[in-house]
Amino acid sequence: MTSYHGGKQRIGKALAEVIYDVATEVAEDDDFVIKGYCEPFCGMLGVYQHIPDLFDDHKLKYKAGDTNESVIKMWNAAQKGWKPPTTCDEVQYDRLKASKTPSAIKGFVGHQCSFGGIFFGGFIGRYGKSTSIVTSADKVRRIASEVDGVSFTHGSYTQFSRLKGFIIYCDPPYAGTQCRYGDRFDTDKFWNWCRKMSKDNLVFVSEYSKPPGDAVEVYRSKSRPTKAFGKKTSGAEKMFMYE
Ligand SMILES: C[S@@+](CC[C@H](N)C(=O)[O-])C[C@H]1O[C@@H](n2cnc3c(N)ncnc32)[C@H](O)[C@@H]1O
Repeated sequence: MTSYHGGKQRIGKALAEVIYDVATEVAEDDDFVIKGYCEPFCGMLGVYQHIPDLFDDHKLKYKAGDTNESVIKMWNAAQKGWKPPTTCDEVQYDRLKASKTPSAIKGFVGHQCSFGGIFFGGFIGRYGKSTSIVTSADKVRRIASEVDGVSFTHGSYTQFSRLKGFIIYCDPPYAGTQCRYGDRFDTDKFWNWCRKMSKDNLVFVSEYSKPPGDAVEVYRSKSRPTKAFGKKTSGAEKMFMYE
């Protein structure tokens, strides 16, 4: 599967293991009963795909959401056995990009046939890349089998505002970066939501810099200096947990 900027395919396993270690330790220390796991910004499941296996003994409820309705349709279809296409030409890519109707194939092609995996960020064939997406198609099917107990729902992260007793891992559009996912993302409103949710849940957030308030850093990847959405960053991915 294409590893895209903002996606967590490369470091997803490491993040999932940190979430598991920290959450189970805090739960034990604070008598917090973990009832479920939720990703409100699930995207291509870079982290999520590793979670059910880690929490195998915990009998959790699993929830996921995203404002990209096509991606949600893709996961719902893949859970029911849908087979993604293994090739895509530029005509089909442009047709899906222009289509106003969300669909599983649009969710798949939009990420997997795009340069850098950025949703409809430019047809891969134009950048000298192979247009064969056999590996990506196989990977989507494999991931879908690993998250077969997850309930996927389309919508904003606030659809999960009533959760209690959950581990909530958020991988939102990063603060200060140009949002490629639609409307400009209101980071301050999101951080307020995290603080509120952390009263009854264990809230983890991926960000480049520490969010305001009681968030502590629990993970930092190696530096990979890069330019993300027009902004220079050290490239070190960080994850914080609200206390
Ligand atoms: C950085 S990506 C998540 C990547 C994901 N962790 C992965 O490994 O592929 C951010 C995701 O948030 C979604 N998104 C943007 N604004 C949102 C909102 N207000 N509520 C929920 N999802 C949103 C985007 O569609 C995108 O899939």
